[in-house]
Amino acid sequence: ARPRPLVAGNWKMNGNKLSARVFAAIIQGYDAALRSKVELLICPPATLTVTFGVVAVGSGVSVGGQDCHVKASGAHTGDVSAPQLADAGASYVIVGHSERRADHGETDAVVRAKALAARDAWLTPVVCVGETRGQREGGNALDVVRAQLAGSLPETANGDDLVVAYEPVWAIGTGLTPTPAQVAEVHAAIRAALVERYGEAGAAIRILYGGSVKPDNAFDLLSVSHVDGALVGGASLEAADFLAIADYY
Ligand code: G3H
Repeated sequence: ARPRPLVAGNWKMNGNKLSARVFAAIIQGYDAALRSKVELLICPPATLTVTFGVVAVGSGVSVGGQDCHVKASGAHTGDVSAPQLADAGASYVIVGHSERRADHGETDAVVRAKALAARDAWLTPVVCVGETRGQREGGNALDVVRAQLAGSLPETANGDDLVVAYEPVWAIGTGLTPTPAQVAEVHAAIRAALVERYGEAGAAIRILYGGSVKPDNAFDLLSVSHVDGALVGGASLEAADFLAIADYY
């Protein structure tokens, strides 16, 4: 059986307290028809986690963090821990986004430690992988993604305690997207790696596609086999666009 799809919004470093209106509009649009088909998640900046966590109560829309520290607490100025995100109302956290890997030098080993820290706080980690333009042009996309998976994923998974997101770096925020055939190739490789690693549970793990997902390309990208949802950046900042993407399902 196909896992229940997840459409996730990553707001990155965007939004302020007035953005609670956008989040409320997303909740309002998450009607019974949509609920029966798809799970929704919004990952706001850390400053808004508590607010969104309160607004989300009872709505069925999940709230997540965009990153967490590997430790639960301590002298780490400016960082946010997984238990703090959970306390603020989060149930998911993105780890290993390419912007974190690039801006903060996060290695696969760090990403894995963050995924484990998330699990320890009962958060579901959304582990991101994806090749750069140069790596794709060099014919190395699959090797890069497989190596990132090998280094970044936890040792164990039961199916619903892990989400993987494939985000080709060259497709993020650029309006460029891979062809459905390219998406299919990578997602099939990720599925194979998950099944190899986790056995039957690997078939239940959701594999999201991310990178310039918009309402008008949602069908092409999300109908590909082993695409179990989307990780949406820019288009998640407008409730109508985000809901239109989710409405593909
Ligand atoms: O986490 C989300 C992605 O980086 C995609 O961003 O939809 O703005 O291309 P984008």
